[in-house]
Amino acid sequence: MSTLKAVRGTRDLLPPETELWNRVESTARAVFARYDFGEIRTPVFEDTQLFARGVGEETDIVSKEMYTWEDRARAQSEKAQSLTLRPENTAGVVRAYIEHKLGETGLIQKLYYIGPQFRRERPQKGRYRQFWQIGAEVIGPPSAGSESPLRDAEVLEMLATLLNELGITGWKLEINSVGSATDRPRYLAALRKALAPVKHKMSEDNQRRAETNPLRVLDSKDPQDQEIIEALPCIADYLDEDSKTHFAAVLAALDACGVPYHVNPRLVRGLDYYTRTAFEFIHGGLGAQNALLGGGRYDGLSEAIGGPKAPGIGFAIGLDRLILTLQAQEQTVLETIYINTPSDAYIAPLGEGQNAAALALAHELRNSGLRIEVGDGSFRLKKSFEIANKLARKIVLLGEDELRSGILTVKDFATGGQTKIPRAELAAALKSQP
Ligand code: HAM
Repeated sequence: MSTLKAVRGTRDLLPPETELWNRVESTARAVFARYDFGEIRTPVFEDTQLFARGVGEETDIVSKEMYTWEDRARAQSEKAQSLTLRPENTAGVVRAYIEHKLGETGLIQKLYYIGPQFRRERPQKGRYRQFWQIGAEVIGPPSAGSESPLRDAEVLEMLATLLNELGITGWKLEINSVGSATDRPRYLAALRKALAPVKHKMSEDNQRRAETNPLRVLDSKDPQDQEIIEALPCIADYLDEDSKTHFAAVLAALDACGVPYHVNPRLVRGLDYYTRTAFEFIHGGLGAQNALLGGGRYDGLSEAIGGPKAPGIGFAIGLDRLILTLQAQEQTVLETIYINTPSDAYIAPLGEGQNAAALALAHELRNSGLRIEVGDGSFRLKKSFEIANKLARKIVLLGEDELRSGILTVKDFATGGQTKIPRAELAAALKSQP
């Protein structure tokens, strides 16, 4: 029989690497809490229409990369429905905002999420078909100040703080304004006009994009098309006064809190909902997939999926890429957080008759906060010592005599010293000794 493997583009995360994932996730949760964000968990699959209307039919994500299936009705009360594994989480969060009438609070909602997303892309380093995002959204009615450039700057400042706290060095914030719903049609018309005489010289993908979604041409990495792209009109020249003032205010607030940035007038994003501020944090260590995270403002998204006016801004960090960056940066990080921190003790039952008692002792010690491994009474003593030496700092021997007397033999692998400790004092002794 052929062996079964994880599906192409998906992978297993194993210890000790998962320790690093946990550390990153808990740092993110701690930073988000300081900015008063609460966690939201939305379903992993949604109605396909949510992404078609929210992210945009013409985007690569919706047109080529979604895992979509027809879910047949199983009961009379159910309808057949097209469902999709979420390729991103912003549309789901905005759907939940609408569904739970969060706008009626009259307050800005600050929500974060950590979870898997699914895109059927060509797998390569830093690009998977199931990948993880840590994201956050700030959304609310305009009366709550959700359109304020201060919200944009606050989100960007939080991201800079988070990356710094995680120890990521060498990140670069690229920022642009992609204009409002009124600027966009004028710019798209200018792009189409400029592309019309030259598009036949471009790659097949870009010829198609020039027709369906000309903004995406700007984002193309195709080397043969770069010269044409360089000469295309710039969105900055098509922004109206409101968009220009908004963007200037975001940059001024970033200056005020010392967040470095680079205005990249060619930056566009792969999702259609963006308006005004759009950004990416890139990292040189990542190779071709150099976007550590991306985000921006989406002032019309709620209305596009049938909700009230609810401007918002948010981001999603590619967690897989963040981990790759940390690993490349600190070769030793895995060892320091996991491999070099063995358990506090290994309990070795000296016969199978002591297995249950060993588990009970482990239960007691774990409840007092110690990290404990338990062996097996069928092991010979030599084998117990060998395994314990790999996993723990100390070995606790538990035989018939020890159980009867309540005095346990503990050997410390670092010093080689052996001591006898009454059971009642064992937890304290294991904690106090280095
Ligand atoms: P996005 O740029 O499509 O934006 O994805 C955000 C980040 O997810 C990327 O910068 C990248 O780090 C990571 N990512 C995307 N695709 C993959 C993949 N196939 N494998 C590994 N990592 C990947 C969004 O998803 C928006 N929802 C962000 C947002 C939130 N905008 C406003 N609010």
